[in-house]
Amino acid sequence: MILNGKTAVLLSCALACGCARPAQTPSSTTQPESPATVAVGATETAQTEPAAEAAGAAATEPAAPDATAATPEPTTPAAPAESPAPAIEPAAAEPVAASLSTEVTLGDPALTAGIPGDGPLTVEQVQAWLATPGIHDPLTVALPLGLSLGERQIVGLDENPMTRAKIELGRQIYFDGRISGDGTISCASCHHPDTGYAAATQFGVGVRGQTGNRNSPVSYNRILSGPQFWDGRAPSLEEQAKGPIANPIEMSSTHEACIECIKGHPAYVAQFEAIFGPDSVNIDNVAMAIASFERTIVTGPSAYDYRAALQPFLDQFATEEDLADLKADDPDLYARYEQLKAEAEANPMSESAIRGQALFFNQEVNCTACHVGANFSDEKFHNLGVGMEAAEPDTGRAAVTGDDKDTGAFKTPTIRNVEFTAPYMHDGSQKTLEEVVEWYAKGGHPNPHLDEKIKKLNLSDQDKADLVAFMKACNGAFPIVEHARLPE
Ligand code: HEC
Ligand code: HEC
Repeated sequence: MILNGKTAVLLSCALACGCARPAQTPSSTTQPESPATVAVGATETAQTEPAAEAAGAAATEPAAPDATAATPEPTTPAAPAESPAPAIEPAAAEPVAASLSTEVTLGDPALTAGIPGDGPLTVEQVQAWLATPGIHDPLTVALPLGLSLGERQIVGLDENPMTRAKIELGRQIYFDGRISGDGTISCASCHHPDTGYAAATQFGVGVRGQTGNRNSPVSYNRILSGPQFWDGRAPSLEEQAKGPIANPIEMSSTHEACIECIKGHPAYVAQFEAIFGPDSVNIDNVAMAIASFERTIVTGPSAYDYRAALQPFLDQFATEEDLADLKADDPDLYARYEQLKAEAEANPMSESAIRGQALFFNQEVNCTACHVGANFSDEKFHNLGVGMEAAEPDTGRAAVTGDDKDTGAFKTPTIRNVEFTAPYMHDGSQKTLEEVVEWYAKGGHPNPHLDEKIKKLNLSDQDKADLVAFMKACNGAFPIVEHARLPE
C-alpha cells in the first residue's frame, strides 16, 4: 500500500468539547482495532433534509453505468484514442504551489499532499496557503487510466465543485479524531489508507470499541458512485459524511459539538471562511469538504487496465505489416501504441489472471452482470443470500425502499483493490477472496429474495483460482495522502 510515511503529530486543544484532548492522528503504524460484539451499524442515519435533497437530487437515481461506454472490456476500436493518463507512481509529492492548473487528473499526489510544511498547521501557514493564486478555482477533473472509462458517470461536482483548498480542508477533517465524542475516532479509523480505505475488522469499530453490524466499505472511487452505504440510504457523498459524526457507536458526537470543536481551531475557521464565506462553519460545509477530499481518492491503473487499453490495438493492427502501416500513416497513434505496449509489459497480467478475466466477463459466470463499468459496480442492490440464514436477517435495501422485494439486497461493491479490503460482504462474514468465489460457485444462499442472476456455477479449482487472480490484477496504486498534518 502506498502511503505517506510522516509520523503522527500530537496536538492539544484546550477546549471543553469532544476535541479537548490530543489529536489521535492515525499514523502509518495504526493497528486495526479488535473486533467487538454489539450490533448496531445499520442505525447510522443519513439525514435527508431539504438542503440534502438539493445536493443529492442528481444522485437519487442510481447512476447506472452505461454498459457499453463504461464497461472496462476493451471492445471498441475507439479506445486507442483514449488520452493517456499518467500512471500513479508512488513518488514523493511535488510542492503544491509549483503548478496550480485547474485541470487535474485525480490521484495526483499534489492534491492530497497537505499544506506545505511540517508539524501542526498554524494559522499563518493556512493563510499563506489560502492566498495561493488558483487555490479556490473549480477543478476540471480527469480520472486515471481505467477509471477514466467512467468519466461520464462522475457525480456530485455540479452541486459541490472541487477546489484545491476544499479538498485540503476535507483531508484535514477526514483524519481528525478530535471531532468525535471522545476525541479518538476519525473517518480514517474505519477507512484508513493503510487498510485500503476500509477496515480489517468484521464491523466498523467506533468510540469505546463499539461496533455495528456492517463491514466498513471502501471510501475510494466514490466519485463514480451515487447513493452511499450498503443499502444506499444516503443520496450523496455529502449526506453520507454527516452520518458517522452523530452516530452514537461510530464517532458518537453531535453535529453541534463537531461544529463547536472546529470553531475552536482558528486554522480551521480561516479555511471555512475563505472557502465558503463568512460564518460558514456548519455541518453542510463540513460534509462538502469531506466529500471533495473523498472524490480525490481514486485507484490508479491496474495491470488489467493497461492490458485493456492495449487490446484494441492488438485487435485492429494484428500483423507486423498493419503496425508498419500505422507507423507511417499516424505516427502519433503509433507512439501511443508503443507507450501502451511498454506499460502493459511493465505491468503484466499472469496467465491465470487472463483466464480469470475471460470467466469474469463471460455469459455463464457473468460477474459483470453486476460488477460492471469502470468501477466494476452497477451501483444497484442485489440479494446474494449473505446473512440470510439468520433468524432476523439484515433487511438491507428493503429498509430504505419499504419494498419487500429488496429484502437482503445490498449495493454491489467495487472489485478494484478488493484484495486489500478483507473481510468481505456487508456483514464482513467472508474472510478471503477464495471464500467469496466459493459463495458464488455454490449459487449463494437460497432464500426467497435471491437475485435471479445468482445461480450455481460449474467452476473447477483452477477456474476459482483464476477468478481470484483476475481480481488481484485489478489492483492499482492509491494516491499518496498526508494524514498527520492537522490544524493546531
Ligand atoms: C466506526 C467506524 C466508522 C467510522 C468512524 C466512519 N465510518 Fe464510514 N462506514 C462505516 C460502516 C460500517 C459503513 C457501512 C454502513 C452501512 O452501510 O450501513 C460506512 C460507510 C461509509 C461510506 C459508504 C461507502 C459505500 O460504498 O457506500 C462512506 C463513503 C464512508 N463510510 C465514509 C466515511 C466518512 C467520510 C467518515 C467520517 C465522517 C466515516 N465514514 C466514518 C464505518 C465507519
Ligand atoms: C447479482 C449481482 C452480482 C453478481 C452476478 C456478482 N456479484 Fe459480487 N457482489 C454483489 C453484491 C451485491 C455484493 C455484496 C453482497 C452483500 O454484501 O450482501 C458482492 C460482493 C462481492 C465481493 C466482496 C467485495 C467486498 O468489498 O466485500 C467480491 C470479491 C465479489 N462480489 C466478486 C464477484 C465475482 C468474482 C463474481 C462472479 C463469480 C460476482 N461477484 C458476481 C453482486 C454481484
